[in-house]
Amino acid sequence: MFTRKASAFALHVSFVLAICLHTPEATLVSCPPPSSPPNTFVVYVQATFANGTNNFTAIPVAGIDGKEFSLVQFGTIYVNDDYITTTASPTSAILGRARGTLTATALAGGRFQVSITLVFTSGVYNGSSLVLLGSANPIPQVSQVAIIGGTNNFTYATGIAEFQPLSGVGPNQVIKTTVTYKI
Ligand SMILES: *[C@@H]1O[C@H](CO)[C@@H](O)[C@H](O)[C@H]1NC(C)=O
Ligand SMILES: *[C@@H]1O[C@H](CO)[C@@H](O)[C@H](O)[C@H]1NC(C)=O
Ligand SMILES: *[C@@H]1O[C@H](CO)[C@@H](O)[C@H](O)[C@H]1NC(C)=O
Ligand SMILES: *[C@@H]1O[C@H](CO)[C@@H](O)[C@H](O)[C@H]1NC(C)=O
Repeated sequence: MFTRKASAFALHVSFVLAICLHTPEATLVSCPPPSSPPNTFVVYVQATFANGTNNFTAIPVAGIDGKEFSLVQFGTIYVNDDYITTTASPTSAILGRARGTLTATALAGGRFQVSITLVFTSGVYNGSSLVLLGSANPIPQVSQVAIIGGTNNFTYATGIAEFQPLSGVGPNQVIKTTVTYKI
């Protein structure tokens, strides 16, 4: 009985595989998505943290009463609308914006939650966006966060984004961002 069931299952599996392999357009079964090798590209996020200047792209909007608003003070929330550029130079071509929030989420200080969308308005990904989410190390350490999806060129994307701060600690941050994704 068990054997008969098992071989019926095996037959069914090979039938399904045969359909997926030989007639990918068949609508009888849902085939697993083809697995593609990961793609990688590098962009640079230019963040100017508000610090006595009007030209900021990142500003703390909330935090704990009586505490300094800072990325290392638990409870502080920043809103970012940073530039994305082609090279580390702040005057290089603008590819879009890095928009979202950074929230200091470690009670002991240090780590913060990144919830950022890379919004491309130029270049080969113009009109696409990539949604990043995860827990980051304090600047200037390297961090990795998850790619949890995207639009247009990045529809169904998964992968990781690595942030490498290039400028030490300070209000002007250039963050080398290496995106590795699969569709
Ligand atoms: C702010 O930006 C404007 C326009 O981009 C520029 O002319 C000005 O020098 C900047 N000011 C500072 C303090 O960076
Ligand atoms: C980006 O795409 C938009 C919408 O398709 C278009 O209007 C715009 O000209 C493009 N920008 C660049 C720099 O290619
Ligand atoms: C992005 O998607 C557009 C169509 O929406 C396509 O023409 C273009 O080749 C894609 N670019 C890349 C780099 O995949
Ligand atoms: C703000 O700027 C001052 C000098 O202009 C600098 O000493 C200080 O470290 C900066 N603060 C932050 C958080 O970057």
